[in-house]
Amino acid sequence: MKLQAILKVLFATVSVGSLMMVGCTQQEQVSSQTQGEASPSTVEVQQKSPSTTQPTERTPDVVYVPTPPEVVDRMLKIAKVSKNDILYDLGSGDGRIPITAVQKYGVKKAVGIDIDSQRIKEANENAKKAGVTDKVQFLQQDLFKSNFSEATVVTLYLLPELNVRLRSQLFKQLKPGTRIVSHAFDMREWKPEKVEQVDGRTIYFWTIPKQIPANLR
Ligand SMILES: C[S@@+](CC[C@H](N)C(=O)[O-])C[C@H]1O[C@@H](n2cnc3c(N)ncnc32)[C@H](O)[C@@H]1O
Repeated sequence: MKLQAILKVLFATVSVGSLMMVGCTQQEQVSSQTQGEASPSTVEVQQKSPSTTQPTERTPDVVYVPTPPEVVDRMLKIAKVSKNDILYDLGSGDGRIPITAVQKYGVKKAVGIDIDSQRIKEANENAKKAGVTDKVQFLQQDLFKSNFSEATVVTLYLLPELNVRLRSQLFKQLKPGTRIVSHAFDMREWKPEKVEQVDGRTIYFWTIPKQIPANLR
């Protein structure tokens, strides 16, 4: 437990100190990428979806560090995301994964869940700029208390211990065949079907099995 706590603080320190600078740049990229692509229905959709947020309920389990666009793209390709899919990003940050899934891969619905009100605000703004609010939704929730059972694809960029904590919830809620992609972190005893490297980042891929293996129950 002590080691886990130290690792968590270390991850947070490194992330806030060095990666947030990268994050800011990438966030600007998402905004500028999406600005020119607003659909004619943007005004109508903006009226339908006010971006209201509540105060953040508790400290997030992991700090915000965005996934680089090329890694987002590869994650969605590995999961073979298509127009038939409903994608959930658990811990969705500025919304880049759900927004890209709709914009580039045409998923019928994408949902981002984040506990941090600031992230939800940014994600809603980015979705509006991208003109995708008719298909993208951001929910300010604790992912460990959320229901994502309708998902056919789940994306993650959390921490190893959070992935493991989430595992039983994934098995309980998701239908067999649902694809899961994780940036950077595996699921320990649940071995991935695919592992790929992109620009020095690792991406892991699993499918929910029909029968949950005994060692993972
Ligand atoms: C490393 S960032 C990943 C952001 C995004 N998925 C991406 O790949 O660009 C993790 C996100 O998880 C959120 N988060 C942390 N704990 C959470 C929890 N218990 N429930 C929901 N979101 C959480 C943080 O606020 C942060 O935005």
